[in-house]
Amino acid sequence: MESSCKYFKVGSCEGQKVIEGEAMPLVLQPPEGGSGNTVGLLAALKENKEWFEKLIIKNSAVLLRGFHVKNAHEFNDIVEAFGWEDIRYVGPAPRTHVYKRVWTANEGPLSEFIYYHHEMVLIKEFPEKVILFCEVPPPGGGETPIVPSFRVTERMLEEYPEMVEEMETKGLRYTFTALSKDNTSSMRGRGWEDAFGTSDRVEAEKRGKSLGMEMEWLADGGVKTILGPRPLTRVFEGRKGRRMWFNTVVGMHGNELSSATMADASEIPDEVVRRCQEIIEEESIQFKWEMGDVLFLDNLALLHGRRPSLPPRKVLVATCK
Ligand SMILES: [Fe+2]
Repeated sequence: MESSCKYFKVGSCEGQKVIEGEAMPLVLQPPEGGSGNTVGLLAALKENKEWFEKLIIKNSAVLLRGFHVKNAHEFNDIVEAFGWEDIRYVGPAPRTHVYKRVWTANEGPLSEFIYYHHEMVLIKEFPEKVILFCEVPPPGGGETPIVPSFRVTERMLEEYPEMVEEMETKGLRYTFTALSKDNTSSMRGRGWEDAFGTSDRVEAEKRGKSLGMEMEWLADGGVKTILGPRPLTRVFEGRKGRRMWFNTVVGMHGNELSSATMADASEIPDEVVRRCQEIIEEESIQFKWEMGDVLFLDNLALLHGRRPSLPPRKVLVATCK
């Protein structure tokens, strides 16, 4: 039982849901009369590491609230307390390194909605855990909504059983166009030179290939990356046999810089994508930040996103294997 640990008290938060008997997120606070500081928290986490890891998998999301975690240094100490291996971010979001294992979350404009995704879902090696820390909570909006991915699969199977099986059998094919230079006025404005960590095309191609991408160079200096076939859903060990909606069809289908089709190039009907988008929204948990929050997400089980926000908002991230 989660409440059996003397260092934490189970709380609740706005937007929290109970999914098949588990609170999502599970909220852990300092015990009654506890002071709630990072030193005590670190000791408690180190002592209860396995217990805590099991909770992340059981509840898919665990929130530490009320421990007054102040900055990137303290957040990094929490991340390092577990000894999980770091995994470097690869993807379209503009991010800045802050301190050791800590990065800024997407630095794209706060006015835009970052659509629901499993972190690095298109990359061969994706993180198992995404850990977020709120240094400055937004004055309005800016929630980090999370979605139990298996619920999306279940509901899509109820409504489109044949289409789901067709997409699964054929696999998916995505394309994504990266510009040549960073453009932080767009959320996907990470240029290929930054994304691949080189301005050498041959080297970029080599790195892209190692990540499972085909690449086509464009006349304007950008590059079109092609991925596929990729699965629609996945079942991961230890996750109750749940079939996760481990794809990014809604996020990439029919966009200016991206596309999603079946791997044999047959189209995914607009109606199916539109309905899937509604289901994801309906199944979402609208998590609202408070200062000092640290949120652990099981990236194999949850989609996450970012709602449009008023400035300022400072949420930092670490990704682990
Ligand atoms: Fe993300």
